[in-house]
Amino acid sequence: MIRPAQERLFGVIGYPVGHSLSPVMMNRAFEVCGLSCRYLAMEVTELEKDLEVLAKVGFEGLSVTVPYKEDVMKFLSGIDVNASFIGAVNTLKRSGDGWEGINTDWIGVVKSLEEALPSGTSWVGKRALVVGAGGASRAVIFALKKMGMDVTIANRTLKNAEILGERFSCRAMPLEALRDFGACSWDLIVQTTPVGMKGYGENESPVPPSLFAPGVIAMDIVYTPRWTVFLRDAHKRGADVVFGYKMLLYQGVAQFEWWLNERAPVEAMRDALERALETRERVYKSDV
Ligand code: ATR
Repeated sequence: MIRPAQERLFGVIGYPVGHSLSPVMMNRAFEVCGLSCRYLAMEVTELEKDLEVLAKVGFEGLSVTVPYKEDVMKFLSGIDVNASFIGAVNTLKRSGDGWEGINTDWIGVVKSLEEALPSGTSWVGKRALVVGAGGASRAVIFALKKMGMDVTIANRTLKNAEILGERFSCRAMPLEALRDFGACSWDLIVQTTPVGMKGYGENESPVPPSLFAPGVIAMDIVYTPRWTVFLRDAHKRGADVVFGYKMLLYQGVAQFEWWLNERAPVEAMRDALERALETRERVYKSDV
């Protein structure tokens, strides 16, 4: 028998996960709540076998990241309906007969956007543009539809947008068609491609700046750097911005609450993330 004798164990599995910010955020949350818990970043290569090992060692909860959010679904004893519909699981909890899976990425999107509107205002009926049709965009589209928005997907490969359009009942268009639209064609624009990320088109944005104007909200899911070209363009044209790390924060808040059945210390987690990102950006700058 193996059982953690002093700390309850949680962690993130993926490959690679060396740059994950989740340990900083989660361990800070455990600390301020006075919990004897530890959160580790773990690279796994043999998913099925490694999940069994982690269960045996006594891990109670796991975050799942790239490239396993879809593959992991094959090895679970239960999956909630929202995760099944999205087609991806990012959170596991140990239950009697195996690992149960849910998706908190879409909850992260909902919370980030709720925070972006003045209280009393609603997203129902707003026009949303989702740029990108990869794995990450599925949770985003699911969240926007749940919130009652009218969603259009624009993607480099039209076929991929059309597949998601059919699955989630949204319009689909090629990315280059965005040039034909003017400011305020959409109330919300969510950027879900990796473009703008450090090391991947850092000085580019897939969205024409002409779509932004005061009253529009722009959300990026890239969070390194915080100010992507997409968000800078939006800000310059008077749009409001939602930083990519908000989604990371709120998907983590939902994980914490599912695992531990208690309120997550959101402000402490936000603080930990912001400080880690600031440090990371300073290091990047000194690299150049
Ligand atoms: P996944 O999220 O499935 O792992 P990804 O390679 O990260 O896939 O790409 C996610 C999304 O970003 C896709 O919609 C991809 O467009 P395609 O469907 O045409 O592959 C989009 N994407 C990636 N790089 C891009 C780029 N340089 N310009 C525009 N869109 C891009």
